[in-house]
Amino acid sequence: MRSRLPVVALGVVLAVLSGLLAWALSAPFLAVAVAAGLGLVVGLVLGQGLMWLRVTTGRAARIEYQTLHRLEGMRAIAEKRHEILFKATREARERGAAAEREAKRAADQSSRVREAVTRQERELRLSIMNQIDDQVVLLEDYMQLMRLVPMSLPMPRPGTWAASEDLLLWLAGYVLEHRPRTVVDLGSGQSSVWMAAAMRTAGYDGRVIGVDHDEAFAEGTRELARRQGVEDWLTVVHAPLREQEVAGRSVRWYDLDALSGIQDIDVMSIDGPPGQGTSHARWPALPALHDRLSSGAVVVLDDMIRRDEQEILEDWLARFPGVDVERLDFEKGALVLTLP
Ligand SMILES: C[S@@+](CC[C@H](N)C(=O)[O-])C[C@H]1O[C@@H](n2cnc3c(N)ncnc32)[C@H](O)[C@@H]1O
Repeated sequence: MRSRLPVVALGVVLAVLSGLLAWALSAPFLAVAVAAGLGLVVGLVLGQGLMWLRVTTGRAARIEYQTLHRLEGMRAIAEKRHEILFKATREARERGAAAEREAKRAADQSSRVREAVTRQERELRLSIMNQIDDQVVLLEDYMQLMRLVPMSLPMPRPGTWAASEDLLLWLAGYVLEHRPRTVVDLGSGQSSVWMAAAMRTAGYDGRVIGVDHDEAFAEGTRELARRQGVEDWLTVVHAPLREQEVAGRSVRWYDLDALSGIQDIDVMSIDGPPGQGTSHARWPALPALHDRLSSGAVVVLDDMIRRDEQEILEDWLARFPGVDVERLDFEKGALVLTLP
């Protein structure tokens, strides 16, 4: 509650001044009293007015101050919120950009994987087609062989150890066409029997000499020849492997003493002995029997897909110039050398 003293004081001062002024003007006592009363009323009203003005101004100032203070607070809050919002927006934009980059990377990777899978699928399909083609070719060769060289009983399937169907057909076809007198089959087996049967079919007096380091396999080939009735065209020699000297090299090869009777060879097929850890196991064949080949003889070397056989060929070509080389595009790779 504000004090009313200044209002009263102003009323009293104005009352005294108005009374004094009336008295100085020699006004009658009643006029002096009325002037003093008017002065008091004017003073009180004026004081009250001034006081109201002062209070109102102070309140307005306070309200202004409070409003400004509040506005200040609101601005600070707004600024803080704006800052938070700005930061959140920036983070969201960065996260969005990162997600976009990640999505692009994933899309690239998935497209690369799709391409690789498609390529592999294509290669696999091609490889399967090639394998099927190869098998069909081998089957056709075997059908031709069976038609050209009839057998009286079923033959064992040409497996891993036997010469493949394409080479069997080539050897039998060579016998049918060229009628060689003496054929040496190093590494006896189905090849020896098919060539003997081809001689029978061609109806001439030739001989296949199958050579085997293993007596059990030699006997197996003899037995097969007997069952097929071609024993008159096939002799199987058991020639165990022996350490010996061939063309200045110490080698482990068929015992040369066991092969001493073989002369005038027209065809020599080299499909043995098996390497079994020995490198260049078939190298001695040509150096050892070269002088026993008839002129124009052919030498067939199987398994040319192997590095070992390719190295053997290099050495032979250096030793025996003038040899004609024909490569046969067969399953295991084969080679025909024709001697001058
Ligand atoms: C590649 S094979 C000769 C195959 C023969 N030229 C043919 O076409 O049937 C070489 C030698 O391996 C041996 N051999 C043959 N079949 C075999 C088998 N199933 N397991 C182990 N050795 C075998 C024999 O001693 C044969 O002389």
